[in-house]
Amino acid sequence: MDHFQYRDGVLHAEDIPLPRIAEEIGTPVYVYSRATLERHAQVFRDALEDVPKKHIAFAIKCNPNLGVLRVLARQGYGADVVSGGELERALAAGMAAEDIVFSGVGKTRAELAQGLDRGIGQFNIEHEPEGIALAEIALAKETTAQAVLRVNPDVDAGTHAKISTGKAENKFGVGIDAAPEIFDRLAGLPGLKMRGIALHIGSQLTSLAPLEAAFERVGRLVADLRAAGHDITHVDLGGGLGVPYRPDDDPPSPAEYGAMVARVTKNWDVTLMFEPGRVIAGNTGVLLTEVLWVKPGATNPFVIVDAAMNDLARPALYDAYHDFVAVEPTGEKMTASIVGPVCETGDTFARDRTIDRVESGDLAVFRTAGAYGATMASTYNSRSLVPEVLVDGDRSIVVADRIAAGTIMAAERVPDWID
Ligand code: LLP
Repeated sequence: MDHFQYRDGVLHAEDIPLPRIAEEIGTPVYVYSRATLERHAQVFRDALEDVPKKHIAFAIKCNPNLGVLRVLARQGYGADVVSGGELERALAAGMAAEDIVFSGVGKTRAELAQGLDRGIGQFNIEHEPEGIALAEIALAKETTAQAVLRVNPDVDAGTHAKISTGKAENKFGVGIDAAPEIFDRLAGLPGLKMRGIALHIGSQLTSLAPLEAAFERVGRLVADLRAAGHDITHVDLGGGLGVPYRPDDDPPSPAEYGAMVARVTKNWDVTLMFEPGRVIAGNTGVLLTEVLWVKPGATNPFVIVDAAMNDLARPALYDAYHDFVAVEPTGEKMTASIVGPVCETGDTFARDRTIDRVESGDLAVFRTAGAYGATMASTYNSRSLVPEVLVDGDRSIVVADRIAAGTIMAAERVPDWID
């Protein structure tokens, strides 16, 4: 459930009619609903009611906006970060250092040192050399890094190949069969406290079966590690739960996920850690856009909107579906392709889709754009960087400015040795 609903025929974000935001801020613009964000945060936590010891770290890569992070910090969420930049954002948003988990397949030595200096709660080690480097840096700083080893359980997450992470051929973690030996060696290093295991098999999972299979494997690994004398206190189950993008999508609910987790991990006796992203933020945002032109096409017309692949990259990157609805629908429908102004055919949001009839000047939104939306935006084609607005009841505020193409250009220079 979200708080983007029609009132008197006009789509609102909570109590704010979207045409007002378009008028005040211009389009394209991302609009987030605080009430939806808080609701999702609570629903996910409630779903884990039967998990006695837990820690929830929002995967901030999916929406690192400071305003959004502050809302989640107030909900008691920590952060899963994958770069030094994300680490600083989580802290700036008010998340406690000990609630921060540092994931990421290519952490630099400088980032490892930064994590230690900031006193973060946990490092998720991707491979042995990274663990050795972390131990060395921690030792030099006369501290101990709390760490878990990320394993690759070799299961097919059944999601898009570009966002699947748990198959043996993917770059993430160490093979689960090699894990006991690697864990053993890392656990013997001073400077490192190896306290458990992490996994994350992919994103936008629409079935619990691969997650359950992966968790079962990790459960056996935990038992083996304990049998070998290791003290295993934490298991990080990652994120990945899918959300509905199409009106008739029916992914597993957080409650179903929580019940499965509680059942599979019942005897593990560890603190379970979670890194949800999309399931928290996806449906808390829309991308508001204006229809520039409706242009005849060979079969169906093209609806050319002022948002483009640089603002919302998911359709171009993953053939992702984002529902498109008019802000003030007439009730009539049309079949059209929805495209942006960028000069490549990949700048297509939908092909030959039946949508609300729209005309030049109408407003529309792409739904489910709160995760992996603004954060993946660029200025390709020298377009502005898209702004973000957070709505809370009847108030709204720009939580990220539109960065004009001119501001980007001002950061560039022409060498004076080019005459
Ligand atoms: N933990 C780790 C280690 C991750 O790599 C990810 C996402 C998450 C947690 C959060 O996963 P979620 O709960 O959001 O599924 N840009 C792509 C998605 C990339 C996901 C990357 N990793 C998209 O737009 O679909």
